Parts: sequence; C-alpha cells; structure tokens
Amino acid sequence: MNKEILLSVDNLKVHFHGAENSVAKAVDGVSFEVGREETVCLVGESGCGKTVSALSILGLINQPPGEIAGGRILFAGEDLLQLEEEDLQHIRGNRIAMVFQEPLTSLNPVFKIGDQIGEAIRIHKKIDEDALHRRCVQLLTDVGIPSAEERLNAYPHELSGGQRQRVMIAMALACDPELVIADEPTTALDVTVQAQILKLFGALQQKHRMSVLYITHDLGVVSAVADRVYVMYAGIIAEQGKTGHIFGNAKHPYTQGLLASLPTRAKRGRRLYSIPGTVPDPAHKPPGCPFHPRCPHAVQSCREQYPQMCDYGGGHQARCPVLFARDRK
Ligand SMILES: Nc1ncnc2c1ncn2[C@@H]1O[C@H](COP(=O)(O)OP(=O)(O)O)[C@@H](O)[C@H]1O
Ligand code: SF4
Ligand SMILES: [Mg+2]
Repeated sequence: MNKEILLSVDNLKVHFHGAENSVAKAVDGVSFEVGREETVCLVGESGCGKTVSALSILGLINQPPGEIAGGRILFAGEDLLQLEEEDLQHIRGNRIAMVFQEPLTSLNPVFKIGDQIGEAIRIHKKIDEDALHRRCVQLLTDVGIPSAEERLNAYPHELSGGQRQRVMIAMALACDPELVIADEPTTALDVTVQAQILKLFGALQQKHRMSVLYITHDLGVVSAVADRVYVMYAGIIAEQGKTGHIFGNAKHPYTQGLLASLPTRAKRGRRLYSIPGTVPDPAHKPPGCPFHPRCPHAVQSCREQYPQMCDYGGGHQARCPVLFARDRK
C-alpha cells in the first residue's frame, strides 16, 4: 500500500466472557490497515468477527461482557483504545462514520428524516438553520434521492429500503468523515438496489475523498468496491491482498472455498459448491489452524500448530504454510 495510512488495527483481540468462565475469542489477533482514500473490504462468513472488529474501532463494545484483550487501533496516528469516551465522541460520527445493515433499526421512526440528518450535523458542527437546511438538501441530492427538498419531510416508513439506506449514507457523510465504516450496508436489499448502492458508494468515495472500510459476507460484492481485501475466518485474518490477488490468485483454502461457492455465469444450472461444515464457535475453537476441520488440504501439523502468515509479495499474504510450501516446490 503506497497511500498514507489512516487506520491501522494492530493485533486486536476482543473476548466475550460467558457462563462458567467461558471465553469467546471473537477477534483473535487481527491486524489490518486502511489508507487515505482507499476502499478496503473485510470479508468472511457470518460469525467470523467482522462486526466486533468494526464496533471496536468506534469504542462500541460493551465491557463487560466484552473485553478488549489486546492490540492498538491507530486512527491518524492516535490510539483510539486509549481515548476517554468524551474524546471518542468527537471522532465518532464526525471523523469516522458508520453505516449499518438495517436502516429501519438505525433511523428513528418518529422523526422526519430531515431532522435526523440535521441532528447528525448539529452534534458536531455549529451551523445556522438556513445553512443546515441547505446542507441536508445537498446531502440527500448527493445520495441520489429525488425531490430532496420534499423528502426531508418524510418519515422513515414512507421510504423504500433502498432509499432508507441512502438516507443512512447521507447521515454518515453529514460531517465529511475521513473514514466510513459500512457494515453489510446492502445485505438487506434486493440485488438491483444493492448494485445501485454499491455504485453510489464508489461515486461518493471519490467525490468526498474519504476512506471506506466495507464489511460483507459476500465475496461477490467485494470485487465491485475494494482496492484491497482482508479475508477473515474465526477471528483471524486468513488472507490479505489487492483485489486482483484475492480473485485471481487466492492462496488460502478458505478464500479458495469462498470463491468456488460464488455463483457465476459459467456455473449456471450447476449445483453450487459450499464449504463443508461451519465457522467454529469462538468459545471452542479447534487447536492449530482454526480452518483445519473444513480444509481439504489439512495435514497433521495443521491440527497442532497455529499457522504463520506467509508472504507472497506485493502485499499478498496468506495464513497457510501448507500451500505456501507446496507453491515453493
Ligand atoms: N455481545 C456479545 N456477547 C457474546 N458474544 C458475542 C457478542 N457479540 C458478538 N459475539 C460473538 O462474536 C463472534 C463474532 O461476531 P460478529 O463480529 O458479529 O460476526 P460477523 O459480523 O462476522 O458475522 C460471534 O461468535 C458472536 O456470537
Ligand atoms: S494451515 Fe492447514 S488447515 Fe489451515 S488452511 Fe492451510 S492446509 Fe488448511
Ligand atoms: Mg456482522
């Protein structure tokens, strides 16, 4: 990555303490970086620790039952994990904004959307009523909502799912954040609307020159948005690289499995592959490589040794020494 680093998550560990002293290591030593004006995807099946990673950045993990058990989260050089809540509030929504999966639960049903966007601005900026109104109209126009002036008076239930998600994106952009974290922002939408929102993200990212951390379980979405990709599995990073590395030359059996299960034109009419088994419960992770119970290439050492990251050059790394050794032969 040549760009200046904006966000650097370094060896983050997030545990949840449960019944009978059980500890769920939901995020187990995760490192990733987002450069300025870069779009980075965090991808992996449900339950692998993506949302917990995102919430940690914003200081939104409830402690207890959660515990930030280690690591650093540097944003513009400052460790967010060391900040007091008051200082974090200046960053949250202002310099780092978040878009969640289900806009109906994030928008307040009893307030007009104009008031809600206005409030998102007013929390962080001193601004007079006229300028606030103009800014709200501009934001709704930017996210592609027609008749923005009128729509400011609508209530959330009067909008379609896609439009509500556009409103959430407008709210995220309200204070010109340097970083937007989008956690499955299109998952609840149908495929056509999903494509429109992805396109919108790309356009806004360029116009507002912001960085985006885009979280999804859907590798298909990744190719449409990402400059670089981190593939997460069971609380760890399994593989990372430029989008071309991941789609053209995946080196981790988990990434390869995800790719094989993507629907494509060539596979139309055939039964789609799915990786056998499920993501392990983070309180009962298998020893060694956490992917070994599902891995077609597993050997005895995979059941015993925690796998090291292997470097393929150019920022492409995969946590599978078995395939790495095979490649070098
Ligand atoms: N508040 C919580 N208490 C206990 N476990 C949690 C809590 N939040 C998340 N987890 C666990 O952490 C793991 C990762 O969850 P999450 O980050 O939401 O996954 P993803 O977003 O990748 O689907 C899951 O096993 C989940 O059950
Ligand atoms: S380390 Fe072993 S179990 Fe893990 S992905 Fe590689 S081959 Fe599979
Ligand atoms: Mg999630």
